[in-house]
Amino acid sequence: MSLLPLHLLGSPVLRQRSHEVGAVDDEIRRLLDDMYETMDAARGVGLAANQVGVTRRIAVVHADEDRFEMIDPVILENDGRASAEEGCLSIPDVYGDVSRPERIVLEATDRHGKRFRKEATGLKARAIQHEIDHLDGILFLDHLSLVKRQMLLARYRREHKDETGFIKEVQAESAGRE
Ligand code: CO
Repeated sequence: MSLLPLHLLGSPVLRQRSHEVGAVDDEIRRLLDDMYETMDAARGVGLAANQVGVTRRIAVVHADEDRFEMIDPVILENDGRASAEEGCLSIPDVYGDVSRPERIVLEATDRHGKRFRKEATGLKARAIQHEIDHLDGILFLDHLSLVKRQMLLARYRREHKDETGFIKEVQAESAGRE
């Protein structure tokens, strides 16, 4: 397994719609292993494939003590509404309150090529929706008001003005997750 470099805000791949996977092969399973490892090292609750430069509909989630991959995910049902703070490994140190459906039913393919369904609420439901957004080229910033988004973006650009390029190496860490 290996850690994959993360694409940060500004990388065009974060704005692309990712392609369906269909059949799951060893190459996809290898990518999943690397994505889990990268998510853990970066201490995220989720990671989408385009965040590591691969425009396929694949994401991994580790939220509320549930750890799973979603390949070609779709949301079958959603209801309720909840607002909570979100962040994103591709937009370091930026957080904002996002309103989303509170409960969802997910359908996706697992690493063995089997379709499964999962009901989720709270943080897990939020993480699933955040990752599926990534697969459609959507970032959590897009859900904020224009004023709030521009404020956060201006601060982010100020804090990252000395960085060149949009790719960040993830360091292996033994510390606990956030
Ligand atoms: Co994200």
